[in-house]
Amino acid sequence: MNPAQDLPLKEAKGTRAPLPPGPKGHPILGVMREFNRDSLSFIMRCREYGDVVRARFLYVPAYFIYHPADIEEILSTNARNFRKSMSLRSNFFQRLVGNGLVTSEGDFWRRQRRLAQPAFHRQRISSYGEVMVDYATRTINKWRPGETRDIHPDMLRLTLEIVVKTLFDADVSGDADKVGQILSELVKPFASQATLKWILDNRLPTPAHRRFHRAVGEIDKVIYRIIAERRNSGYDQGDLLSMLLQAHDDDGSQMTDSQLRDEVMTLFLAGHETTALALSWGWYLLASHPEVEKKFHAELDEVLTGRLPEVSDLPRLRYTEMIAKETLRLYPPAYAVGREAIAECEIGGYRVRRNTQIFAFQWATHRDPRYFENPESFDPDRWTAEFNEKLPKYAYFPFGGGPRQCIGNYFAMMELILLLATIGRTFRLPLADNRSVEIFPAMSLRPRSAIRVTVENRQS
Ligand code: HEM
Repeated sequence: MNPAQDLPLKEAKGTRAPLPPGPKGHPILGVMREFNRDSLSFIMRCREYGDVVRARFLYVPAYFIYHPADIEEILSTNARNFRKSMSLRSNFFQRLVGNGLVTSEGDFWRRQRRLAQPAFHRQRISSYGEVMVDYATRTINKWRPGETRDIHPDMLRLTLEIVVKTLFDADVSGDADKVGQILSELVKPFASQATLKWILDNRLPTPAHRRFHRAVGEIDKVIYRIIAERRNSGYDQGDLLSMLLQAHDDDGSQMTDSQLRDEVMTLFLAGHETTALALSWGWYLLASHPEVEKKFHAELDEVLTGRLPEVSDLPRLRYTEMIAKETLRLYPPAYAVGREAIAECEIGGYRVRRNTQIFAFQWATHRDPRYFENPESFDPDRWTAEFNEKLPKYAYFPFGGGPRQCIGNYFAMMELILLLATIGRTFRLPLADNRSVEIFPAMSLRPRSAIRVTVENRQS
């Protein structure tokens, strides 16, 4: 970055607050090319301008914010002045998740969140612990010691099975398989979503787009049929779908089929890839840090004494929880959150014009040496109670924060700990080769290549 080309600190019209500094970029493209070339490095380099940085993607003004207080401002304190960023309003997202919890806004979102919330209460979520351990056990029963596996597809399948099972229950396992297959096809186009496509609403009827629309149509049919069956049976199967079906608003109204469809699709998508990524990166980090792995195994042996983990073990699986937290710090599956300013305001002493896209990056703030000593090192031991206490609230925000905080955060943390414990109790997963795995920052923080591990029986 060449400071000589930087945007000057401008005095904005009508207010004393200046606009923040930032890279000038290309006259037409703005910073698009640099961002697309290597977005994570670009985000880190931009930090040199300060805690609030101005950039432009084509015609779209954007701010990058790095300071926990400013992040708190947009996600929590002044959340009402912001809506989700424009990338979430693309045709692609609308067709996929419609007006589900991740994308909806205003009173509609508030009502949906209120309706869905009971399904995510800690107590309710605890009842899914057994499903999680059971499915993890089934998965590893198919593994053979000595074989080499790519761990990420395994984790994707497992977390998808868990979400499908907790939402649709076992009696519809035929459909669950179909849903799983289509969903894994559906998330593929996300991998090729470059920034340009996020910003420009891509409406061209390319073969990939036609395939995408057909796949969404197929999954729609399955979801609508399951909803109809469940409505007719009126039977509470104890899963999330039952909870959503039973939810009443204050005026007694319930969710319509199309709202339910959007929420179910949203929960499928939001709830499985993120958790799978955290697990895959967790195994990768454990394999590259034998001293951490040793402590992890010692805790599992002491707490579980050879049996399978249960929800009641969670308070004692402290080190496993620290591993999960540290993994989410270094490899946050959602590595950015975006908002759009509804009205002009100020952030960190800088003027924010209406419609500015504002991005906070877990990737950057989680690696900020002001809050994390040796920020690049994988050190689960840093997560002591005192450290948690002292850490500024939004220096660590893998699940976002404020009113739009991840509704599945307890679900995800419980799943991470139980799956790490169930698998780690039986197997070690050392890397099959010494190559480090590159990160591919698509919609989420994915591995660019396979994470190849060798399945090793711990007992032997
Ligand atoms: C490690 C796993 C996960 C991570 C890192 C994660 C991360 C996030 C983040 C950062 C947000 C906030 C986005 C924003 O403010 O713009 C979010 C929202 C959301 N997440 Fe998660 N998530 C995870 C797991 C889950 C699970 C398991 C579920 C459901 C089963 C879920 C469902 C949702 C939903 C519905 C929202 C939207 C909430 C709203 O706006 O009201 N997530 N997630």
